[in-house]
Amino acid sequence: MSEARLDSTVSWRTSNLQKLQLRPFFSAFLLNLAHILIMAFGESGGRGGFGGGRGGGFGGRGGRGGDRGGRGGRGGGVRGGGVSSRGGGFGGRGGGRGGDRGGGRGRGAPRGRGGPRGGRGGAGGARGGANVVIEPHRHPGVFIAKGKEHLLVTKNLVPGESVYGEKRISVAGDVEGTKVEYRVWNPFRSKLAAGILGGLEDIYIAPGKKVLYLGAASGTSVSHVADVVGPTGTVYAVEFSNRSGRDLINMAKKRTNVIPIVEDARYPQKYRMLLSLVDVVFADVAQPDQARIVALNAHQFLKDGGHVVISIKANCIDSLAPAEAVFSSEVEKLKAERFKPLEQLTLEPYERDHAMVIAQYVRHQ
Ligand SMILES: C[S@@+](CC[C@H](N)C(=O)[O-])C[C@H]1O[C@@H](n2cnc3c(N)ncnc32)[C@H](O)[C@@H]1O
Repeated sequence: MSEARLDSTVSWRTSNLQKLQLRPFFSAFLLNLAHILIMAFGESGGRGGFGGGRGGGFGGRGGRGGDRGGRGGRGGGVRGGGVSSRGGGFGGRGGGRGGDRGGGRGRGAPRGRGGPRGGRGGAGGARGGANVVIEPHRHPGVFIAKGKEHLLVTKNLVPGESVYGEKRISVAGDVEGTKVEYRVWNPFRSKLAAGILGGLEDIYIAPGKKVLYLGAASGTSVSHVADVVGPTGTVYAVEFSNRSGRDLINMAKKRTNVIPIVEDARYPQKYRMLLSLVDVVFADVAQPDQARIVALNAHQFLKDGGHVVISIKANCIDSLAPAEAVFSSEVEKLKAERFKPLEQLTLEPYERDHAMVIAQYVRHQ
């Protein structure tokens, strides 16, 4: 395994597609094509992913999008060539849910802007005989599994266990007879993964870091962030829904670097006793007052010079204004709260009308 900093070809393709700024219809076609190219599994798994991409990709604003997700792929766990791949590859949204047996036909639930989600993706396994090499991504703690195709992966903190049915790839470790396991990180299910593949310069989430994660849901992405920060880092994961919170707590039972906090992120004083200062606040609460929520938490817990990584879903903030205008106004709100914007990136083709914004917190001006 080389220590060289690498850009995945996946990132390359994605950023270049974004630069093209093609007309929506043609662009959607190309984006799906790009998605097929990055699938690193057999035909069946690929279908799950394609369908998912379609559900999200074609959805127009105001619910104009297509109404179906993709067909779930067939399970295809395959071993070979020193690499064993189990479980499912990327589906669109819901991709991993097919588990080892693959999902059935998926149907996306229509949503306002952005159209429906893709369907349940099936669990496809890498086709047999695939030689997979794991290489470090330029973001420390993130890796690329290079086989027939390339996949974003994180090193599994709990080898032998998937969190949400995601595919696992196990390779020989440095010590003879040992294995190291990686989990495939699906950009259709994680905005952070989408941002990484989209070419974010720096995510500031790295081994050993302390991350306050707002909007943890059931812990799908949190589990990958936990892999990235590793055993010496900590993820404080805040989620106010009791139902999602239950899954989050279950996930954290095995990932002991995750502290699940089932509270409303609008009231950080309720969990102040659980946290010390953090390096990064990641936010994906999809609320109209997200900037305020981020600021409240940063003022309380973010170290001076720390960073915020925020996923902005335009129609959650203003369903009438153009997405770009919403992103700009959110950035202005952050500036007023002592954040210095560093980077902004849209999350297409993985999410429509979403942006990832990264800013630095300057506690003392
Ligand atoms: C878009 S989802 C997050 C998905 C998650 N980040 C992932 O990638 O798996 C938004 C989540 O934020 C939660 N949420 C919204 N407002 C919140 C608040 N004020 N405090 C805590 N959680 C909140 C919702 O319940 C929902 O689970």
